[in-house]
Amino acid sequence: MEENLKRFIGEHVIITGAGSGIGRGIAHRFASEGAQVTGADVDQEGGKKVVDEIKARGGTAQYLYVDVSREESINDLVKKAHESFGPINVAVSNAGISETQSSCLEISGAEWDRIYGVNVRGSFMFCRACGNNMMDNDVKGSIITISSTMGRTSKNMTGAYASSKSAVIMFTKSLAKALASMGIRVNSVAPGMVATNLYRPVEGEMMMEKDSFVPWIIEQCISSGQLLIPREGTPEDMAAAVTFLASKDAAYITAQCISVDGGMDWSW
Ligand SMILES: NC(=O)c1ccc[n+]([C@@H]2O[C@H](COP(=O)([O-])OP(=O)(O)OC[C@H]3O[C@@H](n4cnc5c(N)ncnc54)[C@H](O)[C@@H]3O)[C@@H](O)[C@H]2O)c1
Repeated sequence: MEENLKRFIGEHVIITGAGSGIGRGIAHRFASEGAQVTGADVDQEGGKKVVDEIKARGGTAQYLYVDVSREESINDLVKKAHESFGPINVAVSNAGISETQSSCLEISGAEWDRIYGVNVRGSFMFCRACGNNMMDNDVKGSIITISSTMGRTSKNMTGAYASSKSAVIMFTKSLAKALASMGIRVNSVAPGMVATNLYRPVEGEMMMEKDSFVPWIIEQCISSGQLLIPREGTPEDMAAAVTFLASKDAAYITAQCISVDGGMDWSW
């Protein structure tokens, strides 16, 4: 990471799912570049911990509760975030969940709705609320969704999750079109494999040890030549792409989805 970059001084950046994994990495990176960070999460303990870490490093951050599957919770979040740190300049829709039943033949309707309620409806509602906040305050801001390599290609064991992430990529493009005339850019980052709590359900389903799923998949992808950069992704890799898209260096980029996956999707 370029240590001296300070691209977001005075900007209000709001991130959902900031209490863990990739969202935590994104929150730290924006804070280190001078942003005022609203870290929102349904997990109060995780969210508060990340905010405390940022403050301990001299950054500015606040934790606010949100359950993105509930529209009133999103509206409440955006209102409270604005009251503390002012209009939103950058919004990162990162909160996401994976399924406990991965087979398309077995997944229940309730589980399908749960995945879509967070990954698609929740992400869309959050992005739209932030877009409205930017428009109301004449902010030519940036919105970034977190999709997935699995939303760009097909793979076993990813029934509702994969299609939910394809939906994220497509609504990102729709929102980019809707907000373009206001000077608001909307893009997506599609991570590859990053070892986080996201994989606890699949590890449970496959009766695997905690933190063993990602190394197992990575090993398979390396040995089959599918992974061109032979290592796991990190939250820092994702944060670098997200901050680039939010920065002035990306002023001519909108309606795009950038894979940050070590080249994994070249053959998936
Ligand atoms: N880890 C990977 O390999 C990977 C790959 C592709 C995409 N992604 C995506 O990256 C994003 C972050 O995932 P992660 O890997 O860091 O997982 P994670 O489980 O470590 O973090 C997800 C965060 O989202 C929060 N969250 C879940 N439901 C929520 C809700 N209803 N409202 C608000 N917050 C909620 C969780 O509390 C958690 O803090 C997700 O959208 C995920 O789909 C991850």
